[in-house]
Amino acid sequence: MTSVAIDMSGRVALVTGGGYGMGRASARRFAACGARVAVADVDEARGEETRDLIAEAGGEAIFIRADISRADDVQDMIGQVVAAYRRLDYAHNNAGIIEDQSPIHELPDDQWHRTIANNLTSVFLCLKHEIPVMLAQGGGAIVNVASETTYKGNVGDAAYTASKHGVWGLTTVAGLRYAKRNIRVNAIAPGNVRTGITERAQAVLPPEVSERMEQIQPIGRLLEPEEIAELVVWLCSDQAIAVNATRFAADTGWHVA
Ligand SMILES: NC(=O)c1ccc[n+]([C@@H]2O[C@H](COP(=O)([O-])OP(=O)(O)OC[C@H]3O[C@@H](n4cnc5c(N)ncnc54)[C@H](O)[C@@H]3O)[C@@H](O)[C@H]2O)c1
Repeated sequence: MTSVAIDMSGRVALVTGGGYGMGRASARRFAACGARVAVADVDEARGEETRDLIAEAGGEAIFIRADISRADDVQDMIGQVVAAYRRLDYAHNNAGIIEDQSPIHELPDDQWHRTIANNLTSVFLCLKHEIPVMLAQGGGAIVNVASETTYKGNVGDAAYTASKHGVWGLTTVAGLRYAKRNIRVNAIAPGNVRTGITERAQAVLPPEVSERMEQIQPIGRLLEPEEIAELVVWLCSDQAIAVNATRFAADTGWHVA
């Protein structure tokens, strides 16, 4: 796949959930564009693997172990980024989880709270601690991860869908609030992408349902994480200066199908 040339040398990017899936792909793409990258993940082995992949390709990265559902971990994560690189230009607030789909009347309370903590409170915490660094240095760009479920009705995934609507709402508030301070905040809403989430789902779904996950995409296949990373990195780049508080459907048109 060809890539647009984007120069991020001298800049610093943070990717949460950078150990696998879309986070790993965007961490590698930020590094390929010349940014120094902080890869944050709760999974140490995978996070270190991403760091090593970036180093092997000639880039610069550190790994930070952080559970972004925890306020103290997020504060410490940002502290480690600043200690290592003295700035934070780009943040891809990407880490998230999806669990079993139960109807609302059967959804266990702890599953609701876990999903909201990992997918929504986490983004609030990241914004809360990333923005002061960006304000102090005069600007930055942030990409949060919503989901195609913010466009379409969905009979399952109550907690997941609510969490991703929350991410989109937070994105509009942050984008408008900090626009004059030179911080842009956008969201992406991916369709089905070949990552840990879809690998785990396809491993247990009946073959016909698994196949349908691919065929339901207008393009007729899962998107590759690298295809999403292109959008994330472009949104952070100076080329996207006009784009703020916007949600990008990265789903080949599924949201209008
Ligand atoms: N894969 C899809 O089809 C799809 C579609 C729409 C949205 N998304 C969203 O994309 C984002 C990335 O997911 P993915 O598909 O790449 O999944 P993935 O499972 O491949 O990767 C997620 C990464 O996040 C990490 N992580 C999870 N919870 C964490 C936490 N509390 N703290 C730190 N790290 C944590 C995991 O260890 C993992 O490395 C998620 O927010 C997900 O909801 C995925």
